[in-house]
Amino acid sequence: MLLALVSCRPIQFPLPATDRGNVTSPLISDTSQWQALADHAAATAGPDGQPSAGLSLRELFATDAGRADAFTYAIADLTVDLSKHPVSPDTLSLLVGLASAAGVEAKRDAMFGGERINTTEDREVLHTALRLPAGATLEVDGEDVVGPVHEVLDKMSGFADRVRSGEWVGHTGQRIRHVVNIGIGGSDLGPLMAYRSLTPYVHPDITAHFVSNVDPAQLLDTLADLDPAETLFIVASKTFTTIETISNAKSARAWLLATLGDEAAVARHFVALSTNAEGVAAFGIDTDNMFEFWDWVGGRYSMDGAIGLSLMVAVGPDNFRAMLDGFHQVDTHFRSQPLAENVPVLMALIGVWHRNFLNRPTLAVLPYCQHLDRFPAYLQQLDMESNGKRVVLDGTPVSYETGPIVWGEPGTNGQHAFYQLIHQGTTVVPADFIGFLEAAEDVGGQHDLLMANMFAQAEALAFGKSAAEVEADGATGALISHRTFPGERPSTTILADKLTPSVVGQLVALYEHKVFVQGAIWGINSFDQWGVELGKVLAKAIGNELTSPEASELTHDSSTNALINRYRAYHGR
Ligand code: F6P
Repeated sequence: MLLALVSCRPIQFPLPATDRGNVTSPLISDTSQWQALADHAAATAGPDGQPSAGLSLRELFATDAGRADAFTYAIADLTVDLSKHPVSPDTLSLLVGLASAAGVEAKRDAMFGGERINTTEDREVLHTALRLPAGATLEVDGEDVVGPVHEVLDKMSGFADRVRSGEWVGHTGQRIRHVVNIGIGGSDLGPLMAYRSLTPYVHPDITAHFVSNVDPAQLLDTLADLDPAETLFIVASKTFTTIETISNAKSARAWLLATLGDEAAVARHFVALSTNAEGVAAFGIDTDNMFEFWDWVGGRYSMDGAIGLSLMVAVGPDNFRAMLDGFHQVDTHFRSQPLAENVPVLMALIGVWHRNFLNRPTLAVLPYCQHLDRFPAYLQQLDMESNGKRVVLDGTPVSYETGPIVWGEPGTNGQHAFYQLIHQGTTVVPADFIGFLEAAEDVGGQHDLLMANMFAQAEALAFGKSAAEVEADGATGALISHRTFPGERPSTTILADKLTPSVVGQLVALYEHKVFVQGAIWGINSFDQWGVELGKVLAKAIGNELTSPEASELTHDSSTNALINRYRAYHGR
C-alpha cells in the first residue's frame, strides 16, 4: 500500500548546497559535476572533437570482453543494451554524480508523491497514479486519487465490454463496428500508437480509426467507408476547447445526423473523454457518457487513463489492464532503483552526455517492428513537448541545450531512406533500436531477416569499416574514402520477447521517466507547453481575416499580410 500525504506548496528544487558551493545560479551548468563532465569530454576527445582516448567504441570493446554484459540492464521484460555508447565506468559515475547534483531522486519522489512540480500551471504531475493497482492509496490535498482512477477504469471497462459484446448498439439497433477517436496531440498519439502496436489483440469485429488533423481530408477519408449506424465517435480532449477536435467532432455529428436524422442518435454514437464536463455538455454529449480524468494528468501522459478508451474498446479491458501493469512495473523500478542501476536514469544520462557534452542534437528512434510505426511520432510529443524548453523553473534562460530533436521510422524502411546519413553523414545521430525476439505474426521466416537487419545496423554504426578493410576488399583510389564507414555511431538496443500489452506499457513508461530525468537535470518544467499557445492565438485571428467578407487592414508583417491577401483574393473575398 502506498500512502503519500502531501502539501500543495509550489516548489523550486534548489540544487543541494553542497553541490553548489558559493554559486547561487539555478543552472545545472554551474555545478562542479557539470564541469567535471565537460573536462572528461575534453580529455577524451580526438582531434575531430569526437570521443577518442579511451572512449572510442572500438577501443572500449577491444579492451573489455565483458562490456556487453556490464552495460546491459534489465527492467521488467525489457533488456536494454547501453554498451554501444561512448561511456566508460568513469563517464557513468560522473553522469550519476550530475543526476545527484540535480536532485533527481528528490524530484522523482516529489512527482510520485503528488507535489505541484508543474509550477507554471500550479499542478501535480500524477500520471503514475493512473496505473497504481487497486487498493493502493495516494492522497493529494487530503483526497485519495487511486479510488477515483479505478472507478473510471471500471466504467471504461463496462462500456468497452458492452461495445465489444454488441450489447451497446447504435441508434438503429446495429452493433458498433467502427470506433473513431477524435482528438489531437496527447489525445490521439498515445491511443493510436498503442492500437497499432497491439494489432494482434484487436477484436475481430471492431476497427478503430483516429482523426486528429483539422484538415477535412482526414475526417472525410476516414468516414468515406463507414456506416453511421455502426460508428461510435469518441471525442477525446482534456480541455474540450481544442479547435481541431471540436471542429472535427461537429463535422462528425453533422455527418451522423445527415443519415440518422434524429438528434437522439447523438447519445448512442458519441462519448467524450475529458476533464471539462461543462464543455462536454455544451457540445451536446450526455455527461453520463463522459469518461473523466484530472488536471494532474498532462495530455501527453494520458493514454493510460480515459484517453485510452478507444484502445480499450479495441483490445479489451484485460489487455488494457495488462498494459497498465507494464507501466506500473517500470514505475516501480524507476522509483526504487539506485541511480546507477536505474534504467530510465541511465538512458537519460547517456542522452545528456550526447546532447550537452558531445554536441549531438537529435535522437533517432528506430523500431524494428511495423506495429510500432507510430512510436517515434508518439515519442516526439512526449519528449519535444516536454523538454523543448529554454528557461529553468525560476525563469532564468538555460545556458545549455535541452531536449533533443526526436525522429524516426520503423526499420527496415529507414535503411533505404535516411540511414545513409546516419552511417556516413557529418552529424552523429544517437539511435534507439527496438526489437522483439518473437514476431507478432511471422511469414516465411521474415522475422529472422528483420532482426538480422537490426543487429547488423547497430554493429555497422558502431564499428564501421576502416579504409584498410575497404582496401583489402579491392577498392582503390577515391573509392576507398567513399566506401569507408567511420563507425563510432552510438546506439541503444532495447529487446523484449514479444510486443505484448504489458510491454507497450513498459516501453512508454521507460521513455516517460527518461524524459522526466532529463528535464530534472536541465531544471526545466517538463509538464507545461506554453510554446504551442502563440500559434493558436494567431491562427484564430488569421482565421477571421481569411473568412471575413469585409477586408480589414492587416497589421502583420508584409509576408503574412501578402499570404492572407492571396488567399482572400483566390476565394474572391
Ligand atoms: O499541443 C498542445 C496540446 O495542449 C497538447 O499538450 C495536448 O495533448 C493537445 O494540445 C490536445 O489537447 P486537448 O486534449 O485538451 O484537446
